[in-house]
Formats: sequence, structure tokens, C-alpha cells
Amino acid sequence: MKIAVMPGDGVGKEVIPQGLRVLQTAAKKFGFAYTTTDYPFGGEYYLQTKITLPDSALKELADHDAILFGAVGVDPRGSAQIPQGILETEILLKMRFELDQYINLRPTKLLPSVPTPLKNVEPDDINMVIVRENTEGLYCQNGGFLYKNTPHEVANQIEVTTRHGVERAIRFAFDYAVQFNRKKVTLVAKTNVLRFAHNLWQRAFDEVAKEYPQINTDYHHVDACCMYMVTKPKIYDVIVTTNMFGDIITDLGAAIQGGMGMAASGNLNPTRQAASMFEPVHGSAPDIAGKGFANPIATFLSVAMMLDFLNEKSAAAAVNKACQVVIADKKNHTRDLGGVASTTHVGDAVCEAIQNG
Ligand code: NAD
Ligand code: IPM
Ligand code: MN
Repeated sequence: MKIAVMPGDGVGKEVIPQGLRVLQTAAKKFGFAYTTTDYPFGGEYYLQTKITLPDSALKELADHDAILFGAVGVDPRGSAQIPQGILETEILLKMRFELDQYINLRPTKLLPSVPTPLKNVEPDDINMVIVRENTEGLYCQNGGFLYKNTPHEVANQIEVTTRHGVERAIRFAFDYAVQFNRKKVTLVAKTNVLRFAHNLWQRAFDEVAKEYPQINTDYHHVDACCMYMVTKPKIYDVIVTTNMFGDIITDLGAAIQGGMGMAASGNLNPTRQAASMFEPVHGSAPDIAGKGFANPIATFLSVAMMLDFLNEKSAAAAVNKACQVVIADKKNHTRDLGGVASTTHVGDAVCEAIQNG
């Protein structure tokens, strides 16, 4: 297996090295081989070189089996020379779009003994998988300014919605439900206002759903979904939604599963014609970067998703299990979970749990 590694900035540089240790430990235990290629791209690299992600590197990345990504984004105090959004769009979104990683799979699960801000919930009550469409919507950078910096300025940012893009995301959600014995798929959109784009979503959803009579379906407007995720998260099983709404509700999901340090993701190209990318949902966390107490569990769970995608099923299960075992013990909790453990300590504990598992 060829794995590209891009730690990026901030806490990405702290959690990815631990993720690599976990990968190495799993490889030893389960007897698979892999090589890694390191890529330096991110905010720090841009400040030195003015390079974001060159096409030549993108081509190399495509030829890997997977990409393990940390986060991009530099401390706002040092970012004056970085045009707004350039790292996010020219590095992260460029990979998602150009490598046709059209699914952003974001499991939202509360692990035992992890503190949640919600009252009266048991771990089993928060166990949903959010399927975020990942190559369309408001993320296409289809827009522009007219009369910029005048009182008559116009800014357009067009939500791009294609039948092809929507249908393949919806189909993925239903196939996922069948494969993992989930009972229900909920479409989250805003059909009452976005009467064109989200009407397309709804029609595609209703048509695809007919092919899966064994799966229950539901629909929630995104505003109501935000409320229900807090008041009764148990109602969600598989959610399929747009790129923008998926971005927003997965941070909310992260919050109820114990914070950004617990939320994993896979940017999947299910056709496998180019590499898929695995990353924690969180960013570079400039507020805590360099202090050594970022929570690496989101990265480890992303490594598990990567192993699962690469068909190393036993190794994937072992990494997931090790995270559960380790996090069940409060002495392994980092500061975000109310503990005092360091990033490295959690890495040690997870590696040990894999070895002994
Ligand atoms: P963020 O996810 O970096 O941080 C939000 C909050 O979560 C902060 O309080 C942070 O301390 C905490 N947090 C994040 N990861 C954590 C971890 N592993 N352990 C413990 N606490 C953690 O989001 P932000 O502050 O909105 O963004 C910072 C920068 O990161 C911005 O430049 C943004 O564009 C970028 N960003 C990048 C990605 C990515 O590359 N995938 C994702 C989100 C944001
Ligand atoms: C995420 C991030 C990205 C997104 C940003 C950094 C472009 O917030 O992965 O959730 O909006 O998708
Ligand atoms: Mn986000």
C-alpha cells in the first residue's frame, strides 16, 4: 500500500505523527506492508514558498492508495500574507474535487466514558453516520464579484447541484445502510426555501429510496436537524446531505460526540480511480497548537477508516477497538475531554492496546 502523508499545519503536525505510529503498530500486528510519501503542503510551506498544492504533486497523490491528511490553516496572527481561503481551497478542496472524492463520510458516535455536553444521553443514543456530498454545492467556487468595493457591489456564490452528483451521494448512503445494517436514511436539506437545488435532492432521494424498500426514510430541514441533534440525537442513523450543510452539522456532531478531537472522516472516491483521503474533521487549532495536548483520537479513528477502505478489515477493527478501550479510561483523556493526558501519551496507550489486543 502506498500512503501519502500530509500533516499540514498546527495540531496536524502533532496528531499525524501519532497516527503514523498507530499505523505502524497495526501493520506489525496484522502483517501488512506499506510505504509512505511525505508532502509538506500547508500554511507554513506557503509562507516560505508561495506554493499551495502544485498539479505535479496532485498527480502523484492520485497514484497513492490513500492520503492521510492533518489540517491546514495558520495562526490568524501570522496569516496576513495569506489570501483568504487559499489554503483551504487550493489544497484541501483541490484534493477533494480533483481526486473526485465525492463522499465525505463522517461517523458521529459517542464512545463510552467520553463527556458529551448533552444531558441524559447514553453512548448508544449518539451513533449516526453523516454522508456529506463532497464535490458540489456551495463549495464549487462558482461565483464572483461585480462592482467590488463600491456601494453597488454584488457577490454571487452559486450552489451547484447536479443530478449525477446528488444521486451518487444518495445511493452511497443507501448502500452504506444496507451494508452496515442501518435501518434509516434521513435526507437533510432546505426544500422549503431552496426550491430548485433541494427539490432536485428530494426527487433524487425519493426515486433512489424506492430501490431500497428495506430501508426506512425520513426528511428534515437542516434547521430542525440542528435542533434534533441536540434534543434527540437518537433519531438519526444515516444522514445524507449537501456539502455545506454537511460541513455544519458534522461540527455539531463532533460537539455532541465529545469535541473536535473525537471526529473522524474519510473523503472517499468509491470508484478507486484516484486516492481517497482520510483526515480528522478538525482544523489546525491554532489556539492549542504546539502545546502537546491535542487529542489524537480523531486521527486514529481516521486511520481506522483508511485501513477499512484499504481492505485491512482486522487491522481497522483493532484500531477502533484500541481507541474505545483507551478512551474508556479517563487517565487517557486529553484536556478537551477534561483530562491531563498528552498527545503522545494517548498515542502510546493506543499502540499498546493494539499490541495487546
Ligand atoms: P478547529 O477545528 O481548528 O478548532 C476548533 C476548536 O476545536 C478549537 O477550540 C480547537 O482548540 C479545538 N480542537 C480542534 N482540534 C482539536 C484536537 N485534536 N484536540 C483538542 N481540541 C481540538 O477550527 P477553526 O478554529 O475554525 O479553524 C482553524 C483553522 O483551521 C482555520 O484556518 C480553518 O480554515 C482551518 N480548518 C482546516 C480544516 C482542515 O484542514 N481539514 C478543517 C477545519 C478548519
Ligand atoms: C472541514 C473543513 C473544510 C470544509 C474547510 C477547511 C474547507 O471545515 O473539513 O469540515 O469546509 O469542508
Ligand atoms: Mn468543517
